[in-house]
Amino acid sequence: MQSFLDIHKTDATELRAIIDQARAMKAARNGRPKGEADDDQPLKGRMVALIFEKPSTRTRISFDVGVRQMGGQTMVLSGADMQLGHGETIADTARVLSRYVDLIMIRTFEEQTLMEMAEYADVPVINGLTNRTHPCQIMADVMTYEEHRGPIAGKKVVWSGDGNNVFASFAHAAGQFGFDLTFTGPETLDPERAWMDFAATKGRPITVERNPERAVKGADLVVTDTWVSMHDPQSARERRHNQLRPYQVNEHLMSLAKPDALFMHCLPAHRDDEATSAVMDGPHSVIWDEAENRLHAQKAIVRWCLGL
Ligand code: CP
Repeated sequence: MQSFLDIHKTDATELRAIIDQARAMKAARNGRPKGEADDDQPLKGRMVALIFEKPSTRTRISFDVGVRQMGGQTMVLSGADMQLGHGETIADTARVLSRYVDLIMIRTFEEQTLMEMAEYADVPVINGLTNRTHPCQIMADVMTYEEHRGPIAGKKVVWSGDGNNVFASFAHAAGQFGFDLTFTGPETLDPERAWMDFAATKGRPITVERNPERAVKGADLVVTDTWVSMHDPQSARERRHNQLRPYQVNEHLMSLAKPDALFMHCLPAHRDDEATSAVMDGPHSVIWDEAENRLHAQKAIVRWCLGL
């Protein structure tokens, strides 16, 4: 049993095995009705707690459906409705939950909450997003790229916009999966130095290019995300929009990437802010495959955590 806390904390060969298993499980499900259990029921008799301290559509539903497809049961819990939201410590919550469930997935604000949950739980813990990282999303993104274009190693990936928690997991993935990552965005919204340093230590230093048109030249994949994340104060909205508008992914920007470049966005999107509808619904976009692959990637992560 092992926790899935971050891409840079998981061995690269294990990450590759998870992607391979996700692809195999997706192929095995081809043609089956949505929500129907898999023939393979490795989670039969297992209970999974899904804790959300922030809103979610994709993470909530894909984990819930994925565990059920594998024969397990889920409890979707709101942090605010638990004693966790009323002063009970994370450590005590982790100890108690470990007596009831076989695995905990948590979406929370502070990374420290995730780490304490993992430290005190006797069952595996999965990071369903913190203010700092979003590893399940990027496992799905790597899977999606490779489904469409083959190995991501050596490819040029360009992130245009805010150096946020989703970018952080892309930076980790650059190091672990061996692709070249370019960040283009305003200096005030640069990613944390630590994320850049990790990729550099793995031989994949991240390029920073302030000019988005220069940045996307030769890109195999262009990625963006919302300009105001869930943990950002709404008071910063106007300032962020003004700073990030030059980094909008539109048809002109995509035309400067490779002709067969893909476009990704983890969703939810603010259409015609960070990316235009023409791009989101256009020929480069794989955003719906990306959302679907959350399901398959996370099923493989759950199996890996439980050693199944
Ligand atoms: N991309 C993502 O994590 O979506 P949700 O916030 O809807 O879970």
